Amino acid sequence: MNDKHCWYDLDIDVKNCFKPDFKFPTPNGRYGIWDKLAWDVFNMDWLKYVSAKGLPVYSVMIFYRGPYASTLGAHVDISVVEPLLLTNFAINWVYGGRDSTMSWYETPLAEKKIDYTPAGTAYKVWNKWELNKIESDAIGESVKLVRTGIPHSIEMGSDPRWCFSARTSIHHDYEWDHVVGMMRKQKLLVERDV
Ligand SMILES: [Fe+2]
Repeated sequence: MNDKHCWYDLDIDVKNCFKPDFKFPTPNGRYGIWDKLAWDVFNMDWLKYVSAKGLPVYSVMIFYRGPYASTLGAHVDISVVEPLLLTNFAINWVYGGRDSTMSWYETPLAEKKIDYTPAGTAYKVWNKWELNKIESDAIGESVKLVRTGIPHSIEMGSDPRWCFSARTSIHHDYEWDHVVGMMRKQKLLVERDV
């Protein structure tokens, strides 16, 4: 295992995942975040398909960013505030965001206070310039397992970006290496060349 690897492709097809009546939410500004139940967004056939592959998806976070809506900060996702548990992974794919990238950084040792998104999810954030970058990737329309328990950020270009982040009943605070191992065992993980 390469401990610098912060993303992997997953062998999951999302071509026909949406319910026929699903519409992308209407953003109100340059950033948007929505938390939806899986069955309000995805069709039953797709939910059964991912479930059979070992990914019981029960909800989805939808993130919108407008053109050039990058942030100065990189954050970690928090699952439970007290006692503190991180969300160590997410299953993400992106529409649009042609020239956007996701970057990962080493977690600094110093304590940080917890903040909350408008959707009520907790996170900690650092200025990117304080951090050491590990790697970057354009996420794109294929499904990826991404590491979210270390600081990560999105750098935007001119193309608006919609990110769908499927949440499953796999414990969010499982260690990253453990989740990678699980996905590998389930034959969902596509090994990386580099
Ligand atoms: Fe995040």
